[in-house]
Amino acid sequence: MTNSPAQRPTDHWSDYWARGSLTSLPDDFSGNYDGEIAAFWAERFKSLPEPARILDICTGNGALALLAADHAISQSRTFEITAVDAARIRPDLIAEGRPDLANALGRIRFVPDTPMEAFQAPAAHFDLAMSQYGIEYCDQAAVAPIIAGLLKPGAELALLCHASSSDMLKTMQGELAEYQRLDALGLVRTLRAWLKDQLDSSRLRRQLARVAQAIYPDYQARRSPLFGFVLQAINQIARLDERGLRQQHDQFKRFLVQLESGRQRLDDMLRVNRLLEADDWHQPYLDAGLELVDQGDLFYRQQHHVGRWFVFCKA
Ligand SMILES: C[S@@+](CC[C@H](N)C(=O)[O-])C[C@H]1O[C@@H](n2cnc3c(N)ncnc32)[C@H](O)[C@@H]1O
Repeated sequence: MTNSPAQRPTDHWSDYWARGSLTSLPDDFSGNYDGEIAAFWAERFKSLPEPARILDICTGNGALALLAADHAISQSRTFEITAVDAARIRPDLIAEGRPDLANALGRIRFVPDTPMEAFQAPAAHFDLAMSQYGIEYCDQAAVAPIIAGLLKPGAELALLCHASSSDMLKTMQGELAEYQRLDALGLVRTLRAWLKDQLDSSRLRRQLARVAQAIYPDYQARRSPLFGFVLQAINQIARLDERGLRQQHDQFKRFLVQLESGRQRLDDMLRVNRLLEADDWHQPYLDAGLELVDQGDLFYRQQHHVGRWFVFCKA
């Protein structure tokens, strides 16, 4: 008998990156982060020495590391970029889907499956440590001294963090309400019961039709990605006969995993937003000997509040 691999705290992120997204906000960015976000990071890259070593913390599929690699290519700079993440990230899928990015991706050393709390590199190695919507997911007390130790004297730690007042938080709260609605309608319970043979197919169809009927008006009004995803799956299921349903058993499981890991990611993001509400959340970095030299709010397309940035310097 084979045991399924033990659950890890970032499995829901591994599931997400295996779908081939480049950023953690695929509904807002069809390609990489651009506009004011890219400009913020370009400012950081401009002031780096030549050559420079950069560490991207909680890199995901490498969006921010790619901005650094693109900068190096366009400005004929030499950047050695290391990109670490606790999840089983899939930058190979990005290279497959976007051959134009393969060169830039090839310049990045990805360190997957490695929590920042366990990441090792020589002391005083990096000229810039950076993170976008990432470092706030780590154990701050544990990673702050690690990062401070990895930076050269005079080097920067630059962060773009979720901000509790940001537009993204409003979107997340809206999505949480949608998940709660789906819970109340028993969607996950129904799918699980059918997968365990505790529910026959006609009841499955009836219950899914009830879910679709209940959420359709909301979907029409707001076109939410979550309800769109659920409705599409329910429509596909409705078209299958009994044999088709059984043949699509694995697709059902996949649908369930996607739903559940989406909810876990959302809970993770909301947890992180609560952490960032505390004005002193970054105290561990000061305690580790870094100085906070600047901070501010970042607006995308001059109107969307996409986060709060911080620049620390190692004395
Ligand atoms: C919101 S995503 C951001 C990814 C990327 N920076 C971006 O903007 O697209 C947060 C990432 O943090 C990673 N993560 C969470 N806890 C971590 C930890 N302790 N060490 C390293 N990575 C972690 C997750 O696996 C996930 O990929």
